[in-house]
Parts: sequence; C-alpha cells; structure tokens
Amino acid sequence: MSEKREIVTIDGPSGVGKSTISRRVAAALGYTYLDTGAMYRAVAHSLQQLQIDLSDEQVVSSTLAALDLQLLPAAKEDGDVGVVVNGQDVSNAIRTSEMGMLASQVSAIPVVRKRLTEMQQAIGQAGKIVAEGRDTGTVVFPDACWKFFLEADPEERARRRKAQLRAAGQEVDAEELLAMIVKRDRDDQERTLAPLQKAEDAIVIDTTSIDIQEVCRKMLEFVQSKKTS
Ligand code: DC
Repeated sequence: MSEKREIVTIDGPSGVGKSTISRRVAAALGYTYLDTGAMYRAVAHSLQQLQIDLSDEQVVSSTLAALDLQLLPAAKEDGDVGVVVNGQDVSNAIRTSEMGMLASQVSAIPVVRKRLTEMQQAIGQAGKIVAEGRDTGTVVFPDACWKFFLEADPEERARRRKAQLRAAGQEVDAEELLAMIVKRDRDDQERTLAPLQKAEDAIVIDTTSIDIQEVCRKMLEFVQSKKTS
C-alpha cells in the first residue's frame, strides 16, 4: 500500500462514459483530471495539419519535440478539457470522430506513445490525479492505488457517442458511427504497444445499464474504503 500512488485510473473503450465519470470523480475527490485521449487527439491534429508522413518516425519524432501541448481546465462545468498546441486552441477541432480514428492510428507509433507517456507521468508526479485513457492503469500508472476498467455494449456506446456529438453540433450516421467505434476499439486492443487492456488489479464496471451517477457513487465508495483501510 505504501508504494501505491494517490492516483485513480479509468480505462476502457470509447463511449463507455469515461470522460464524464472521470471528471466527476476528480471533482468529488479534489484531484486533477487528466484526459490522456485529448493528448493523443492533439498530436494527431498537429501531425495532420503539418501533413506529416506518419510512417516516417524521424520526422514524427522531431515534430513532437517541437510541440508545445497544454491542457487547460474545462471552460464549463462537465465540459471537455481545453487543449492548446503551439499557441493554437484546438479544443473543438480535436473532438470529432475522424480525429478519434486518427488519434487511434497515431497512438500506435512508438515515439508518440513514449513522449505522451512521459508527459502523463510527469503530471502524475506533480499531484493527485484521476487519469482517463486506454493504458493508464497498465502502463502509465501501474502503481496507482485505484484502478477501474469500464465496459458497455457497443450499440449503447454508439448511441451515447451520437448524442454527445449531436450536443456538439455534429450529426453522424448511427450505423457508420457503430462501425467506427468497433474498428477503433479493435485497433486499440490489438496494437502491440500499450493496448487497450484491463489491468489485473482493476475493478470492472459495466455501464450499459447503470447511470453515470451510480457508477461515480460506486467508484467513490471504493476509493474511500481503500483510503481508510
Ligand atoms: O479517449 P479518446 O477517444 O479521446 O482517445 C482517442 C484515441 O487515442 C483512442 O482511440 C486511442 C488513443 N489513446 C491511447 O492510445 N491511449 C490512451 N491512454 C488514450 C487514448
């Protein structure tokens, strides 16, 4: 217990409710919320804007070295974190399903994973955090005190994602969205480096038919119980 760090990790596929849940758990605990997916999306957006050849690791590496990536607190309560890259606000531009697909592709590049993992670990060193992503409990913070892995049926996840995108003013075809979600999860699970995987010591919660408030309540109860034991 003494080597465990005061970090909560929340991993799982897209559309399981990770972001909303992570934000609320972080707010309830007074911890910093770390959206690692936003970092992969920001890198994907930059590489796309600069028209970098993703198969050229050297160019990807030098582009990353020159990248100034900043995460800002959400502009509104229960909103996404803000992201600024080299002075440009990309907060909205990174929140499309296309950028999710590209982020998934970019996240399999070894230099990208190395750089972002180091940045995430540095943020974890600086204070108590709730980290959300695919590999936060397995690779980034294996010594986290509390680990969760969220799951939900793909159809329900597609429905949630559609509602989320609609709220952001984006209309997407439901079937197409489901196909994208299934593909992205398969790619994230099957990549060699830091795949989407449940940590051995993670608690699994299926969010298909439990509401977000209930999931947060269960998680906070677990965190508190392990804190005082
Ligand atoms: O959580 P998200 O949808 O914003 O993540 C976008 C993509 O980034 C996801 O499909 C895979 C990648 N990602 C990753 O590989 N590791 C993480 N810890 C977070 C995201």
